[in-house]
Amino acid sequence: MAGITNADFLNKVVPFGFNVATLGGYSLDKPTIEASQKIIERGRKEFVFPLNTIFTHIETEVASIKKLHNDVKVSANVRATTPQPIIEVGKIKDLDIVEINCHCRQDEILAVGCGQEMLTRNDLSDFIAQVVDNVDCEVSVKIRANVDGVDTLKIAKIIEGSGADYLHIDAMKKGVFEADWELLREICNNTDIKIIGNNSVNSEENAKKMIDTGVDGFSIARSVISGNLDFNITNF
Ligand SMILES: Cc1cc2nc3c(=O)[nH]c(=O)nc-3n(C[C@H](O)[C@H](O)[C@H](O)COP(=O)(O)O)c2cc1C
Repeated sequence: MAGITNADFLNKVVPFGFNVATLGGYSLDKPTIEASQKIIERGRKEFVFPLNTIFTHIETEVASIKKLHNDVKVSANVRATTPQPIIEVGKIKDLDIVEINCHCRQDEILAVGCGQEMLTRNDLSDFIAQVVDNVDCEVSVKIRANVDGVDTLKIAKIIEGSGADYLHIDAMKKGVFEADWELLREICNNTDIKIIGNNSVNSEENAKKMIDTGVDGFSIARSVISGNLDFNITNF
C-alpha cells in the first residue's frame, strides 16, 4: 500500500503467517513520480523517490526483508507509463515478483494512463508480455474488478494470455462491503492463471468465502494496516 508497506512495516507483519510480502506501490518514471508528488501535496500518503534512487531503494528494501525472512517471497507493486522501468525492477537481486499496478484509481495516476487506466490500453497484453519476457522474476498483474466500461473476465484472459504468473484481483464491487465472490468464481472457472483474490478478507468467515471461490491465494490490506487482523491466516 502506497506510503505504508515498506520493509520495516512488512518485517513486523510477515510473522503473522504471510508467505508473500508486497512492497510499494512505487512510481518509477517521470510522469508517475510527478503524479505521486501531486498526491502527496493534497495530503495522501505515497512513496516518492527520485528517479536516480528508486531502483537502489527497492533493492535495499528487498534485502532488508530477506535478511529477516528468507522464506517469504518479496513482491514490488509498481507503476510506470512504459514497460522499461518495470523490467529494471524485475531484475533486482532477490526480488521474487514484480507486480504491475493496473489498480490504483487516484486521479493523478489515471491522468498519466497508469493504474486502472491501464485496463483500457489496447497494448495491455504487449506491455505485460514485454515485462514477462525480460525479467528474471515472476510477474503479477494487480487489477481492480468492475471498473466502468471494462469487462473484468476479458481482461483476466488477456493477462493470462500475456504470460503473467499471477492475476491479483481487488474484487471490489460498488455499493457492497464485500468482495464480488461471484465474479471471482467466474474468473477462476474460466482461466488457468494463478489467482490471488483480494478485498474484504477481514474475518475468518470472509477468508472462507474467498477460498471457496477457487482462488489460489488471497491478500489482505486494510485489516493489516488497521491492526485488526483477528483470525489465524495460517488456517487457510
Ligand atoms: C491506504 C491504501 C493504499 C493503497 N495503496 C495501494 C498501492 O499502492 N497499490 C495497490 O495495488 N493497491 C493499493 N491499495 C489497495 C489494497 O492493496 C487493496 O487492494 C484494497 O485495500 C482492498 O483490499 P482489503 O479489503 O484487504 O483492504 C491501497 C489501499 C489503501 C487502503
